[in-house]
Amino acid sequence: MAEDVMEGLSSTHKYLSSKYFYDDEGSRLFQKIMALPEYYLTNCELEILQTQGQEIYNSLHFDGHFNVVELGAGDGSKTVELLKAFTQAGADFTYVPVDISEEAISFLQNKLSKNLPVVKTHPKVGDYFEMLEEIQSEHVPSLVLFLGSNIGNYPYTEAMELLLLIQKQLRAQDKLLIGYDLKKNPHTIAAAYNDTNGITRAFNMNLLTRFNRELGADFNLDQFEFYSHYNPETGAVKSYLVSLIKQEVYFNVLEKSFHFEKNELIYTELSRKYSLNEIEEMASKTGYSCTQHFQDKRNFFSDSLLCKETHS
Ligand code: AVJ
Repeated sequence: MAEDVMEGLSSTHKYLSSKYFYDDEGSRLFQKIMALPEYYLTNCELEILQTQGQEIYNSLHFDGHFNVVELGAGDGSKTVELLKAFTQAGADFTYVPVDISEEAISFLQNKLSKNLPVVKTHPKVGDYFEMLEEIQSEHVPSLVLFLGSNIGNYPYTEAMELLLLIQKQLRAQDKLLIGYDLKKNPHTIAAAYNDTNGITRAFNMNLLTRFNRELGADFNLDQFEFYSHYNPETGAVKSYLVSLIKQEVYFNVLEKSFHFEKNELIYTELSRKYSLNEIEEMASKTGYSCTQHFQDKRNFFSDSLLCKETHS
């Protein structure tokens, strides 16, 4: 984290990685975001998984035992709905949630043993790709899940790299289900990233609190504000912290201070929105041969099923 902060704040266009949002307080704030009326994403995906789980299962064409491998499982509250539908459809599977946070995994396992005790669960703590490689050495087909519009955090080239990396790990019959937030009325999108209760603001400002605590920085939170912007032409929501005055911020751990001009920006997050065409184009360019979209009633969100080879 120290190295990343050093690099990001030394850059001409300052930036910080959105992966540092998620300390304990940040994870709590993200839970609050997911419950906001403006943040439609969570409910849309929940609706898809609740109402179309059976259809998703039928599209897998797996007969016999399979693994459901979830990358970045988080709290798994939406995934539970999909697993319920699979169970009701008579599927025989093992759920393999993968997350870098030991805490998130044990929380999830606890929740599953209460809510869905019939589902076999083999959680893995670690890096997505190392774990995926390990799992893929078993002779069982896999459905890989990458839900929640997490792909939206990656710039185009990195998203393509990620799709390709997963594609290389998949075997012929394996499938990938990805959650994409779709382009829609720009007001709806802008409001989701600038809620009236200021939770998204607090979520961003928490980065500074975290650096004060963990890197011995002296950010004065009153001298920064939050700004987010949606560009409907590119589909990018970009979030920023804005320095309200010309100031220096010192980091004890880095033994270095950084200069901020008045109104200088720190870019904190990309939340990219897609069209169905863009999803299909990116999938076909990274070696996936078919794409099936499962959408909510309002067509706000898509869980798109990508396969490596079309079955005959
Ligand atoms: C967890 C990356 C999907 O970009 O919509 C929510 C994080 N940031 N509000 C998103 C987030 C601001 C979220 N993802």
